[in-house]
Amino acid sequence: MVESTLWHPVALSEAVAAQAPLAVHVLEQPVVLWRDDQGAVHALADQCPHRGARLSLGRVTPQGRLECPYHGWQFAAGGQCTHVPALPAFVPPPTHCARHFEAQEAHGLVWVRIAPGDQGLPVFTAEGDARLRKLNCGPYDVAASAPRIIENFLDMSHFGFVHEGWLGSREATAIGDYRVEPTPTGLLATGCKAWQPQSNLHSTAAAQVEYTYEVTAPYAAVLTKVPEAGTTAVDGWRESIALFICPVTPVRSRVWFRLAVADFDSPDDKLQAFQHTIFTQDQPVLESQTPQCLPLDLRAELHTAADKASSAYRRFLRQSGITFGVC
Ligand code: FES
Ligand code: CO
Repeated sequence: MVESTLWHPVALSEAVAAQAPLAVHVLEQPVVLWRDDQGAVHALADQCPHRGARLSLGRVTPQGRLECPYHGWQFAAGGQCTHVPALPAFVPPPTHCARHFEAQEAHGLVWVRIAPGDQGLPVFTAEGDARLRKLNCGPYDVAASAPRIIENFLDMSHFGFVHEGWLGSREATAIGDYRVEPTPTGLLATGCKAWQPQSNLHSTAAAQVEYTYEVTAPYAAVLTKVPEAGTTAVDGWRESIALFICPVTPVRSRVWFRLAVADFDSPDDKLQAFQHTIFTQDQPVLESQTPQCLPLDLRAELHTAADKASSAYRRFLRQSGITFGVC
């Protein structure tokens, strides 16, 4: 499993507007996204093969071609140059081509991969559940490696400190035993219990909440929260949150959350505000961690039984041959 053969999220779908190319970065590669005249999204290296100008400064023609801002060369979806305005009769040969990347849309995001591979998109089971409403939060630009951010997401023992009064309390910091098993895409941690003062937007009282965590790809994870019966004010509350991270550089990441919630009434911004509060509590701590890369040698940092999900994540990354954002 190599980083470049994975699908990476690069932008909100809605951020790629018609006729407006968008510059993004993944794995230190500048990429331009644009929509053709049919609305399909495409990705090319953000560097014109003629004289190196940024294609993202150009425009999309009415025919759905990407036009370079410098000399107006036009490029089709697969990267083929179709028109050189300085030589209108010239038919560009196949070698006149911009570097092309595969692109697709899912989970409210545009996904790109740098090299062909066998992996599919990270699975998010709740996406297909019509009883749950889906919406995105982010992007957040974070000065931390993608694996540090995943590991923070799997970590329950920081709740009473970083999220005191929200997801945890200094009065109830003990982490009970939980189970961790490896899976083909990462790991599954079940039976993770926490006492939470305000476990979600609708909490009116503290609740014992059971979490399941799943690492679904090297830079993607899903948590599912199940409040214990009778301890929550809102019956039937269910929530599943996917964390999707774009590794921009080894130590910079762009982060989105995909929420799947049973609440169809609250406005988007209210649901996003809760997640925003939680993540902006995490962000300064994440950005303070050194080294910024995630050390895969288990002797490099200290671990306890409460950290066994993160230890399993480090083992998975090492076995997968992941090199970006780790050390
Ligand atoms: Fe793009 Fe010349 S640099 S057309
Ligand atoms: Co946190």
